[in-house]
Amino acid sequence: MIHAANDRASRVLGWAVPSLQRHVFVCINERAADNPKGCCMARGGAEVRDALKKELGARGLSRLIRANNAGCLDQCEHGVAVVVYPEQVWYGGVTPADIPELVEKHLVGGELVTRLLIPDQPHLAGATHVPPLEVPAS
Ligand code: FES
Repeated sequence: MIHAANDRASRVLGWAVPSLQRHVFVCINERAADNPKGCCMARGGAEVRDALKKELGARGLSRLIRANNAGCLDQCEHGVAVVVYPEQVWYGGVTPADIPELVEKHLVGGELVTRLLIPDQPHLAGATHVPPLEVPAS
């Protein structure tokens, strides 16, 4: 029912919901400077998000992969924390310099960037690869 309404609206209004293959959430949570937990914003979360958006845009991937701001992902000790869905792969200590590798290897090629993985992700069952991006023929 919802899909049919969405299809109708898309046709009438000339827009369509993008067929995203991955969502990448970047923590930009901010805490007071004296908070002992620290925060990803102070560690460069906004810069990581901006670098990711810029890289996706430059490579023409913005309609396939969405970079999203996130609040605290409860991985503060690993910040800047980034999680990729639908495969739910968690990365920590991410910097803007890591973004080209993260995009090329994981988001496009399906190869996890193991040096940035947050430990203890049993749902991955030791996997080092996920399905690569499917780039539609233009
Ligand atoms: S502040 Fe970023 S994970 Fe908690």
